[in-house]
Amino acid sequence: MVGIVAAVGLVACVPEAPAPTPTAGATGGGDAYFPASGNGGYDVGHYDLTFDYDPATKALEASAVVKSTATQSLTSFSLDLRDLTVSAVTVNGTPATFAHTGGELVVTPANPLLAGNTFTTVVAYSGTMTQPVDGTGSLYGWVAFDDGAFVANEPEGASTWYPVNDVPTDKATYTFEITVPDGTTAVGNGDLVSQVSSGGHTTFRWVSHEPMASYLSMAASGNYTLSTDSTSKGLKIVNAVDDDLSPADQAATADVLAQQPDMIDFFEPMFGPYPFSSFGAVVDDDVDPQYALENQTRPIYSGAPDSATVAHELAHQWYGNKVTLAAWKDIWLNEGFATYAEWMWTEHTGGDTVADNYDFVTGIPAANAFWTVPVADPGPDDLFSAATYYRGGAFLESLRRTVGDTAFFAILRQWADTSPTEPVTTADLLALSETVSGQQLDTLFDDWLYQPTKPTPVP
Ligand code: ARG
Ligand code: ZN
Repeated sequence: MVGIVAAVGLVACVPEAPAPTPTAGATGGGDAYFPASGNGGYDVGHYDLTFDYDPATKALEASAVVKSTATQSLTSFSLDLRDLTVSAVTVNGTPATFAHTGGELVVTPANPLLAGNTFTTVVAYSGTMTQPVDGTGSLYGWVAFDDGAFVANEPEGASTWYPVNDVPTDKATYTFEITVPDGTTAVGNGDLVSQVSSGGHTTFRWVSHEPMASYLSMAASGNYTLSTDSTSKGLKIVNAVDDDLSPADQAATADVLAQQPDMIDFFEPMFGPYPFSSFGAVVDDDVDPQYALENQTRPIYSGAPDSATVAHELAHQWYGNKVTLAAWKDIWLNEGFATYAEWMWTEHTGGDTVADNYDFVTGIPAANAFWTVPVADPGPDDLFSAATYYRGGAFLESLRRTVGDTAFFAILRQWADTSPTEPVTTADLLALSETVSGQQLDTLFDDWLYQPTKPTPVP
């Protein structure tokens, strides 16, 4: 007995590892291209975002409820938030102190947060919305105009409208409650769960149950008319089309959006089941950022989209939205796959074939600056360069010609199903391609994706 008591006593006396001393969470997420975006020390699980927006004055009143888990013990942590004015912050219901400078909202809770614990941050903020631009001068983020807002965050524009851990690797679920003047329609990702009017304003509540990267989140508004459709398998499609489009553009838009169910039916056998609970489009006629964006479940287009662009943004739902980048330098994994999908759709509908597109890209002379961009690390200014799209797409055709159709389509399918290993890198794709094909492919990958010179086309 004595021995047992002594042993128990001994166990009780083994010094416990000291509780880690709480420290400040990093104010950057560590991406090589956008080091200030994102933060350290926590992982967001859910954003509950509430907006009251007046397009006439561009005044926004907002509140963000951010539910997170501490990944280290924290004395303070940071959220990315740009030129908006924060009026109050609470953590777990208790007022917190905060400092807001240089796009970082640094929050110091009344008590340190312990590693592994969940915590809820509520930020009340407001401001006058503008037309922000990214590092290359393209409009992005919450782009305000007279009858609403066009919202497209890629790569790190989400902080123009809410406090966020703005890195693609911290996916979260979202709810959006957007109140706008009657007559204006607000659209978020996911499903519209309620629409309530009172006192001259309408509140739209959208819920996104599936985890989403912040660059794909959206709370757009405008003179939109909502309409619904569905695929042969019953997947819900919700479209929001600007009433201000010309009659010709309305007709062209209706014609292209009506093809969305066929596009999903065309891609599913190749890519696997459509990964989310709905799809659709926002077609806005008010600002022209010169691009469309694959916002999760509901891409946004400026003006009437063409069929190839809709197919491209649909393909991103698998390649980019479901299977998401570990780092922005691997952007070609999004754009190369979506471009290749777009080529397959165009071929399927009787337009240019994949081979036509391959001939076009490989016909670009070796001296052209196009070939100087190493697409697996293009640099932040060339993130959306032509090479990211077309050299990335042509690489996939080179891969197909090298490994054959059976292995290539197995790679496409399995890549879309790599969620257990997400977030993904180009090295992950090389490993998968070599496993599936049984071929050594490092030279092909290197020539096409890493070298600043024209690779040899594959016949
Ligand atoms: N991912 C978009 C597309 O597939 C392009 C986004 C461009 N973003 C930007 N900030 N320029 O077309
Ligand atoms: Zn794209």
